[in-house]
Amino acid sequence: MIKTVEWTNEGIRMIDQRVLPTEEKYLMLRSWEEVAEAIKKMVVRGAPAIGVSAAMGIALGASQSVGMSVADLEDDFTYMCRVMGETRPTAVNLFWAIERMRERFNREKSKTNSVEEIKASLVDEAQKIFQEDIAANRAIGRFGADLIADGDTVLTHCNAGALATAGDYGTALGVIRGARDAGKRVAVIADETRPFLQGLRLTAWELAKDDIPVTVITDNMAGSVMQNGKVNVVVVGADRIAGNGDTANKIGTYMVAVLARKHEIPFYVAAPISTLDLTLKSGREIPIEQRDSKEVTHIRGQQMAPDGIKVSNPAFDVTPNDLITAIITDRGVARAPYIESLRKLMTDSSTAATSRD
Ligand code: MRU
Repeated sequence: MIKTVEWTNEGIRMIDQRVLPTEEKYLMLRSWEEVAEAIKKMVVRGAPAIGVSAAMGIALGASQSVGMSVADLEDDFTYMCRVMGETRPTAVNLFWAIERMRERFNREKSKTNSVEEIKASLVDEAQKIFQEDIAANRAIGRFGADLIADGDTVLTHCNAGALATAGDYGTALGVIRGARDAGKRVAVIADETRPFLQGLRLTAWELAKDDIPVTVITDNMAGSVMQNGKVNVVVVGADRIAGNGDTANKIGTYMVAVLARKHEIPFYVAAPISTLDLTLKSGREIPIEQRDSKEVTHIRGQQMAPDGIKVSNPAFDVTPNDLITAIITDRGVARAPYIESLRKLMTDSSTAATSRD
């Protein structure tokens, strides 16, 4: 099992996704500030993995707080939540995880005056978020497997695998792993995903490790492979899904969805319930992160563009709901009209793969 992020007695251990696949390096993060920096710098990335890491970072920071009273601890906790929430803006799982930690703090505060008990409960909550993410991805894999036929070739964009989650299955790659585990033969075409190359570096690495046949293409080849009948289905992950089903995911996803529609190929989004943001009416309200222009102009430190050239580097785009065949969640498969189906899944806790204390 790929261990993306792990709580240990020494600190939080993470695989450094910036240097994969040429180096398999693990970092031990010993303070919450280091965890926040790791999220910002994309040591860890992918919506659910960001949420899990933030929760662990907050739990670590709280457990190291020298505050003597609950009020002191709360001051530290509130500050950590704020800074953690400023690391990356698009993936809603970050804010969802911070909110879970805040709710747990408040619940414990109403039950006890013990700083140590509150600290322990925050560690417990972070561990729960971690475990639940793994369970959610397994459930996505089971629901998604039904949508994949034996012998299918699946095109995916970015990395929505073990590396983008708490580990193990992943979301979009969870659907592929679910199909394989259901006995289906499945092959993958992975878009390289400029500029950070999550597809080329991370998806290819994960799938090759798992012996799932994978072919990497550059992003501008997606149309041609579809036109030539080489893709049966598209499955991607998500960073934030608005109430109407509009989905923010890695830049380039929208382009793939348009191509899939043109070629009558089903286009599925796979994401846990923690990626839904039903407070937003449509994708137009989703904040899109702009990243450093150097990610575009440089490749592994080497300048590729003329000095001083103007660059745009939005990290995500929004795929409108009408291009999405279905959204595969850990509570089932939602179809249009999403405004109804997503709300139903969100409120229907009887089918939840998650647990609360
Ligand atoms: O910038 P990143 O690498 O954090 O973006 C990741 C993606 O866009 C993933 O597709 C998304 O988070 C889904 S991960 C299960």
